[in-house]
Amino acid sequence: MRLKEYSVITRSEKETACLGALLGRMIEEPMVIALKGDLGAGKTVFVRGAAMGLGVNEQVTSPTFVLLKVYRGRFPIYHFDYYRLNEGEDEEAIEMGFEEYLPGDGVAFVEWAERLPLLLPVDYLEIYMELFFDKEGEGRRLTFVSHGKLAASIVGEFANNLSADINGASN
Ligand SMILES: Nc1ncnc2c1ncn2[C@@H]1O[C@H](COP(=O)(O)OP(=O)(O)O)[C@@H](O)[C@H]1O
Ligand SMILES: [Mg+2]
Repeated sequence: MRLKEYSVITRSEKETACLGALLGRMIEEPMVIALKGDLGAGKTVFVRGAAMGLGVNEQVTSPTFVLLKVYRGRFPIYHFDYYRLNEGEDEEAIEMGFEEYLPGDGVAFVEWAERLPLLLPVDYLEIYMELFFDKEGEGRRLTFVSHGKLAASIVGEFANNLSADINGASN
């Protein structure tokens, strides 16, 4: 099943990391995942979980100051963070060779991908993360938006797996 968009709410860091791990376990081919949302939205937490689901054993830390960190899992994992780059600096990033990984032989996670939109491939998964407050307190809304067929089938499978988990848990 292909799905354009799917939203889910989490209430803790652990829940967000678990969603990441679920996604990570599902990935079976190289792809690009763009994470959008303000500082503190939970992008790095999500990537940490996803890396675990992809079989990374090392500690995943924020690449904000180095732009790129590479991990070894079932695939090479390229964790980018464009926070320190400015909009319109696509050319510089292209010169640094980022394009080789977008996509390349592995799975690329890109925080602040919206800063360098020209570097995104045609097919990628966007995850938009928002912090909100309601009567239950603090939460995060994660919206998965597919761009292209591969991303759409991942979003479909993810939604299916998640509703299966939730139904399973309530039985
Ligand atoms: N539901 C949640 N999901 C993810 N992080 C959460 C959640 N609730 C609270 N947090 C906290 O928010 C922060 C998210 O940090 P981080 O993932 O580094 O954000 P970003 O990479 O988007 O700047 C962490 O300190 C985490 O403990
Ligand atoms: Mg981060």
